[in-house]
Amino acid sequence: MSDHSLRTYDSVLDLLPSAENPTPIVRLQRVTGFEHATVYAKLEWYNPFGAVKDRVAANLIRDAEEHGETLQNLVEPTSGNTGIGLAMVSNNRHYGFAATLSREIPLEKRTALRLFGTQLHELDDALCPMPGQPEGAMARAAELGEQPGWKQLNQYQNPANPEAHYRTTGPEIWRQTGGAVTHFVASLGTCGTITGTGRYLKEQNPAVTVIGVHPTDGHDIPGVRSRRALALTDFFTPEAYDALVEITDDEAYALCRKLHVEESLIAGPSCALALAGALRTVPDEPGVVAVVVFPDNAWKYLSSFRRHLPDLFPPEETAAVRPPANPFAEHLDAAFALAKNGPDVIDVSEAKRLLDAGVPVIDVRNPDEVARVRIDASLNMPLPELSKGSTAGLPGDHSGPVVTICAAGTRSLYALLLLKAQGYHEVKSVDGGMAAWVEAGLPTTR
Ligand SMILES: Cc1ncc(COP(=O)(O)O)c(C=O)c1O
Repeated sequence: MSDHSLRTYDSVLDLLPSAENPTPIVRLQRVTGFEHATVYAKLEWYNPFGAVKDRVAANLIRDAEEHGETLQNLVEPTSGNTGIGLAMVSNNRHYGFAATLSREIPLEKRTALRLFGTQLHELDDALCPMPGQPEGAMARAAELGEQPGWKQLNQYQNPANPEAHYRTTGPEIWRQTGGAVTHFVASLGTCGTITGTGRYLKEQNPAVTVIGVHPTDGHDIPGVRSRRALALTDFFTPEAYDALVEITDDEAYALCRKLHVEESLIAGPSCALALAGALRTVPDEPGVVAVVVFPDNAWKYLSSFRRHLPDLFPPEETAAVRPPANPFAEHLDAAFALAKNGPDVIDVSEAKRLLDAGVPVIDVRNPDEVARVRIDASLNMPLPELSKGSTAGLPGDHSGPVVTICAAGTRSLYALLLLKAQGYHEVKSVDGGMAAWVEAGLPTTR
């Protein structure tokens, strides 16, 4: 018999949170700078598999089972946390599990998924999978889900995602604050958290203020989506929220560090994103009780911290983990992070303007990717060739502009650095790559 009071359990799934067994809420002491308002962080890394998405994974599977579905193998496009939850619940239920995801997802999350027995399909997609990309994680999961014996539970459209929060997160917060909660704040990914919890809390007290927080376009915070990506997200219903706040990567990573140092909370980047949004919108007034969801902890994000808090990684340690044979590589990550936020990253409409003006566009994807969809007048120079120093077929004139493009905007940025190192003066990389080009409806050849 499982018993919460003794914390003795028959099954790890009995650890899943509920009003009787909530994840903790902890009052923030210093980082808010507030005098009157109380802000609680809801620590979702106390879920059995480490993240808020465990609630969703368990509810998606429970819901399918209760609808009488015979499950054998599950597949889901996931940035990691839903995948980790689904992998572990599937292991417990003896189902197979496959995840389709972007190669840009931190190595830590991809390794964890493999460790937990997941079959991985890694793709050149945006950090958060977007619908409508023919080569993306969503399309691949839909395709795999059609195979006999396979099913995609589809966290992006399945009402069991927000329902997980309506059944658990909402009631927990209501009970934990004795009904005193005035503000609820969540970061936005699939929008399951804000939709289900917000609905429950507003049903208890329509005066509860619901605040959604999202990153900027081209952000580097796993699990959350920019306003542009949210517009394509089914559960994103801005009319149901009282405020929407946009936070930059710099603000989020700086606050993340403060959470560790000032609050001793092992928060991951999207916790800080949500809190930064709360600090912009929640009034510092007596009687205000805000609850901010902290989706997961810092351990999965070392590669993100390496990019955004580079001073944490002393040069000698960076050198120690890198092969000394290639001194350029030691500086590549730092140069990449600088370039990513710099003026040489252009959007697809600017790339189209340059293409029309006759500027050479260099597609650095592999030939098999180019064969599927390409920009008619582009040159193909795969990144591995370029990194060997090959310039065959590239414009001879180093002073004129060139544009690099890849699938999602990562390889083209490395190509930009390599071309600059080879003496090209004016190189631009296309943000979002072919995925954004196709999404914008710009002309392609198949
Ligand atoms: C780390 C992290 N933060 C925030 C979110 C956003 O939660 P939701 O999908 O419920 O909007 C997710 C969702 O995957 C996540 O993994």
